[in-house]
Amino acid sequence: MKRLLFLLPFLLCADEDFISHYEYGEMLYNQPRGVNCAECHGESGEGKVIVEFRDIHGKKVLRGPDIRKESLASMINSVNSYHKIMPRYYLTDEEVKAIYDYLQKKNSEYLDESEEGNTTK
Ligand code: HEC
Repeated sequence: MKRLLFLLPFLLCADEDFISHYEYGEMLYNQPRGVNCAECHGESGEGKVIVEFRDIHGKKVLRGPDIRKESLASMINSVNSYHKIMPRYYLTDEEVKAIYDYLQKKNSEYLDESEEGNTTK
């Protein structure tokens, strides 16, 4: 709700380009239909510990993987399929692309750096 209030000025700027593609991606990443990607994949998709617990086998750590290097095609595929932990989302390809572009832009420095170190590409 706080987020929506923050967006209100953008929404009211009728002569402006509604909200930018980046802001749209940010909004979707942070709240696609109530469950946000950031909760499990971290603020920028870097991955995050969701929960730590202990069972008869000892300590377990449940984490959301780093998705910064995920391709658009595999992101669309992941969001649209069933997983053990991650919920299935009903987002359009356009919406997933906005999330993808948002993460690409947000992590551009990290992605540039790791590309330089990768000589096989
Ligand atoms: C409840 C936690 C949770 C939420 C919310 C969540 N994910 Fe995930 N995600 C996971 C986990 C855990 C995996 C690993 C597969 C599994 O075990 O479910 C995963 C896998 C993925 C993968 C594949 C990466 C890989 O290495 O296999 C992508 C891409 C992805 N998530 C993107 C997203 C996006 C985009 C959103 C928001 C629309 C999202 N996730 C929301 C927990 C979550």
